[in-house]
Amino acid sequence: MADKITVLIVDDIAETRENIRKLLQFEADIEVVGAARTGQEGIQLALETEPDVVIMDINMPDMDGIAATEAIRAKKPHIQIVILSVQSDSNYMRRAMLAGARDFLTKPPDIDDLTSAIRRAAEMAAQERNKVASMGGGASVGSGSQGGGFTSFLDGRIVPIYSPKGGVGVTTVTTNLAVALHTPDTPVVAVDANLQYGDLSFFFNEQSRNNVVDLAPRSAELDAEVVDDVLISHEASGVRILAAPPRLEQAEGVSAIEFSDILKYLQRNYAYVLVDTSKLLNDVTLAAFDVSDIVVVLATQDIPSVKNVRLFLDLSEALGLDRQRIMMAMNRYDKRRTITPEKVGENFKQEFASVIPMDEKLVVPAMDRGVPFLLQNKTHPVGRSVVALAQKLKEKIASLDEVEAEPAS
Ligand SMILES: Nc1ncnc2c1ncn2[C@@H]1O[C@H](COP(=O)(O)OP(=O)(O)O)[C@@H](O)[C@H]1O
Ligand SMILES: [Mg+2]
Repeated sequence: MADKITVLIVDDIAETRENIRKLLQFEADIEVVGAARTGQEGIQLALETEPDVVIMDINMPDMDGIAATEAIRAKKPHIQIVILSVQSDSNYMRRAMLAGARDFLTKPPDIDDLTSAIRRAAEMAAQERNKVASMGGGASVGSGSQGGGFTSFLDGRIVPIYSPKGGVGVTTVTTNLAVALHTPDTPVVAVDANLQYGDLSFFFNEQSRNNVVDLAPRSAELDAEVVDDVLISHEASGVRILAAPPRLEQAEGVSAIEFSDILKYLQRNYAYVLVDTSKLLNDVTLAAFDVSDIVVVLATQDIPSVKNVRLFLDLSEALGLDRQRIMMAMNRYDKRRTITPEKVGENFKQEFASVIPMDEKLVVPAMDRGVPFLLQNKTHPVGRSVVALAQKLKEKIASLDEVEAEPAS
């Protein structure tokens, strides 16, 4: 006998989940393999169980079913989604279809409609699976069969900001780069990897008791609810923050493996996971580099900074950090100084993606008040240079994706 059709149910209402499960329990060829209560959980379960079909609600507290559909389809295009909703207006339907949903049923569903929609979708899933298999196994999942340039949250980028010399502006740049990159479609989480002396949350004027230590013991089995509780929400910008522990001795409570597991979890839910690193190449910093897509390295126009960046670049290959994945930015640029970005760039054999001017009038008070300067002034040179850095980062990611896609096709 052929394999059963596997089905995942995503709905925030327990009763609905139970009703659908009951409707399907007598269908010999259909097996419910899981039920999720939120969009995020649905995405996670879909990726873990890889069902043939997902029955998806639209209105859920954390994220709507359309966004969840998009996210699942972007990562696993063979999974077919049947939307189940009280709303039956054509606008919703169109959006659901654009997101890659296969079918659309209104609540409460009729058993025949439900099972025939599932069987049709399962056929499609089987075809898609075969297509992927015939393309040659490990082919990376690209844009799938969906139109549009949707990039999945689930394929978020981990980007540590690093300087081998302290006080160069790593936290300042992480903070404002996060603000520059954040949109509702490309949510950003900023993570403090400076576990002992982390001050990232202060740059957002946020002090919460919740921090990375709350996630570390559960890092292997995180779920959306717990993570959501621990992440700080910076209302003014929309950026989420994972703070460092408030006390020095608590830093011991987070291992490198736990830390990288947390980053990898966040990557599935945020378009950008920016990491504010300490200058020490300890195991937590290295863990962040290991799972990174791009590392932004900051330099300033002084000999100690240039010397340290040089040392770091010399070691980077050995750290498994290909030069392709390093972006250089200069901070605290002062045109009166003799060490110019051009000269430093030549020395590093790499141009600066952005040169951020020194601006004590804007940057320092912004830090003192805990208001990212980019929220106050985007047109000022220092703000523009951070926006430019965000743009260069996106371009770099796109170009690395292309390089990656080439040998596969
Ligand atoms: N472009 C800039 N212009 C002026 N001051 C800056 C600039 N960038 C950072 N600073 C200041 O430099 C100091 C160190 O910045 P911070 O981001 O804490 O560095 P790090 O995280 O590398 O230790 C802070 O006082 C900050 O306000
Ligand atoms: Mg710092």
